[in-house]
Amino acid sequence: MCGIVGYVGRQKAAAIMLEGLKRLEYRGYDSAGLAVLQNNGLTLVKCIGRVAALAKLASGKKLTGTCGISHTRWATHGGVTDANAHPHVSSDGQIALVHNGVIENYVHMKRFLLEKGYTFKSETDTEVLANLIAYHYAKQPEPAVNGEGSRFLEAVRKTLLHVEGTYGIAVLSPAHPGELVAARKGSPLILGVGDHEHLIASDVSALVSRTQNVVYLKDGELVHVTPAGFTLSTLDLADVSPVIDQVTWSVDEAELGEHPHFMRKEIFEQPLALENAMRGRFSADGSSANFGGLNLTPADFRTIDRFVFTSCGTGWHACLVAEHLIERFARIPVEVDYASEFRYRNAPLDRDALFFVISQSGETIDTLAALREAKRKGYKCMAICNVVGSTIAREADGGIYQHAGPEIGVASTKAFTSQLLIAAMFALYVARMRDMSFADGVEYVAGLKAVPDLARRVLEQAPHIQQIALRYAKYNDFLFLGRLSLFPIALEGALKLKEISYIHAEGYPAAEMKHGPIALISDQCPSVFLVPKGELFNKVLSSMQEIKARKGLIIAIVPECLDLPEGLADEVITIPDCHEAALPVLATIPVQLLSYYIAVARGCDVDKPRNLAKSVTVE
Ligand code: M6R
Repeated sequence: MCGIVGYVGRQKAAAIMLEGLKRLEYRGYDSAGLAVLQNNGLTLVKCIGRVAALAKLASGKKLTGTCGISHTRWATHGGVTDANAHPHVSSDGQIALVHNGVIENYVHMKRFLLEKGYTFKSETDTEVLANLIAYHYAKQPEPAVNGEGSRFLEAVRKTLLHVEGTYGIAVLSPAHPGELVAARKGSPLILGVGDHEHLIASDVSALVSRTQNVVYLKDGELVHVTPAGFTLSTLDLADVSPVIDQVTWSVDEAELGEHPHFMRKEIFEQPLALENAMRGRFSADGSSANFGGLNLTPADFRTIDRFVFTSCGTGWHACLVAEHLIERFARIPVEVDYASEFRYRNAPLDRDALFFVISQSGETIDTLAALREAKRKGYKCMAICNVVGSTIAREADGGIYQHAGPEIGVASTKAFTSQLLIAAMFALYVARMRDMSFADGVEYVAGLKAVPDLARRVLEQAPHIQQIALRYAKYNDFLFLGRLSLFPIALEGALKLKEISYIHAEGYPAAEMKHGPIALISDQCPSVFLVPKGELFNKVLSSMQEIKARKGLIIAIVPECLDLPEGLADEVITIPDCHEAALPVLATIPVQLLSYYIAVARGCDVDKPRNLAKSVTVE
């Protein structure tokens, strides 16, 4: 939700910020803007539309300044207009600011500022912050006790003491050329430490082309930045010793390469992401998994009588698969909750529950709030995260990194299947501490190790799935149906299709279909069936017959060892035979490809679907 890039150094800030914004565009893409300090003043360029529109507008200006801030917006307060685009400038022209988050008490502060004579041009909560900083700046003693830089910093600090809500901000002032102040509470912000230059950004993808050295700001921290250095402090004036981390991935990993869309690239990267999820995580005897990052001993695990998994969106579907696999193989009860519900419903938890959150980005505000709520109640909290150094990863007591590489497409693909595989490994890990035999463990491990190659075989069917997509792209309603571990994949298939193609789609357990959704069935509403092996195969065939009897169209995703009755499905996509724990991973790939090709056929912008943003950092 909103991307921020700030730069201070020796190079022209605008070009560097535009490159960074381009990489951050998946965070929000309804408008964009930048401000640079030059010619003893502030030059502001902003417009509705994508970063490309901003770049075009900026190319007509002479932007030579070496200190600037920039933003790509996902609207919260105020519609998508030029005036509401960031940066916002205080009415006295002293402060320019970009913001990611929501200022909850802005109405009260705005009233106060109007009384003091400040004026407003936008409908945003952010402009209030710019004016309030200007107000505190004007009130600071002059000259400042510790130099001009601290006067600027102090004005930001004093303002933030009054703010309720969430923010990641970057601020500049024409009175302080060569200085930036940035701060965070609830919205991610990272400092990039370069060679005689510093950058501020919402995530590392905007920085990696210039530096691999980063400082992850914590909530309540402010940083004052110049080309030569930076100082980190807290809102209550304590100095903070910075920890400089190294980003482990390169800028190439966030490039499209030969692919037309990041979503396609990331779907095809799944075999590698799956290999990376497993690398070094199986026990030497080949019968179990290892997770050093959980910081728990086998003895700790013996006392756990329940797992609680929470997440949002696609991650929540991964939680449902984790529930199925852990209960099936380890026989330990699992509770799954939407993070956004968990944080408010004051759920009673078992005394010896272990809490897990799943988040690709590690920044989703609802998931972070659920984690904090569980920690507040004294529970140990683990995180399954893709983004190293993210807020959730840092605040968890332990966890499992996915190592799936950067995921840029708004629709999560490789991060999801990597979460499924980690869930399968975790189920094995706890099952082997309970009743699973050595022989079953060895078979399970072999089954998981085969997954990357089996995923490659599913991907070979992309041209076949594309042809199906072309035939079905005209329909406006779809049902996705599955059972047991494939029910969450039905939910995921429906979510993928609606978020990138705007087609109405619903996921259901196949047997539930006859309790209501069957009313939707006609020759205009295709059903995608995820067909299981085993005892439920015949039950699912019956559900398919019920659809056929009502002239419904059927796309069946079927393990290749199964034979469907002739003519029952209109389209068949096969997946290789695999271990039961690997089935959700392999069954996901066809629904991803189907959604992708349907969205492309309908001319949708698959990487930047309307109204969405990759990382949801506001409530
Ligand atoms: O980064 P997270 O995994 O915490 O994100 C959670 C959801 O916002 C995310 O999965 C969302 O549902 C995706 N757009 C799904 O494709």
